[in-house]
Amino acid sequence: MIVVLFGPPGSGKGTQAQFIVEHFGIPQISTGDMLRAAVKAGTPLGVIAKSTMDAGGLVSDEVVLGLVAERVVADDCAKGFVLDGFPRTIHQADSLISFLKESGKSINFVVSLDVDRQDIINRLSGRRTCPACGKGYHIFFNKPVCESVCDACGTTLIQRADDTEETVINRIDVYDEQTSALKKYFKELGVLFCISGSGQISDIQAQIASILTSGGIGDHS
Ligand code: AP5
Ligand code: MG
Repeated sequence: MIVVLFGPPGSGKGTQAQFIVEHFGIPQISTGDMLRAAVKAGTPLGVIAKSTMDAGGLVSDEVVLGLVAERVVADDCAKGFVLDGFPRTIHQADSLISFLKESGKSINFVVSLDVDRQDIINRLSGRRTCPACGKGYHIFFNKPVCESVCDACGTTLIQRADDTEETVINRIDVYDEQTSALKKYFKELGVLFCISGSGQISDIQAQIASILTSGGIGDHS
């Protein structure tokens, strides 16, 4: 099963991807996490990507496609995977579909999480992330058991460098200008399911589980 979680920054892609990993046993492929790991490790790719990410822009299609193409052929992806934050341009989507086709695969579900602008800003200003295992939290909506400490691995939580208000606003604008058009693209492919990304995390999980198990609910018009 190949799932794409689609939506603006802060819509809950990472949060819901973790649920899919646990519930459906397929790995998460987050281009944002992969790029942040490259920046942290100081690889040549990370050095190229850092300034673009800090400003909230999109890293080049060439760099991102290289990362994804290498990752999806790993053994743990044989039964499927959940893409989080990819594709983000028409060129990325076209390339993904072409290289999946080479191995007889295709995208099964695109779940689009819709959240309004002010909610996104509130969410991202309170987000905290584990720098060791990547698990995400929120200081009000999704608290760790012990303040500022990851429930899963005990590491002290951090705030992402691109979660300042100015960068968040730029990321939303970049999404509107360069990524949101993909919704029409996926709708025409017949794989798009739109649900509200607002409301309780557990309610959204239940809707996603229903879509992935029965192709059921959501605006699939
Ligand atoms: P990326 O890491 O993908 O960031 P993003 O798309 O901006 O999305 P976020 O990770 O900020 O949000 P999310 O939707 O995962 O929300 P989350 O679940 O954390 O990309 C970062 C950068 O890398 C890009 O700007 C770009 O530079 C580069 N990049 C990455 N992919 C690329 C690509 N394909 N092409 C080019 N460049 C690329 O939730 C947010 C917060 O809200 C959390 O605190 C969470 O606990 C909370 N929350 C979640 N759900 C709810 C809810 N229902 N109610 C209340 N709070 C909630
Ligand atoms: Mg994320």
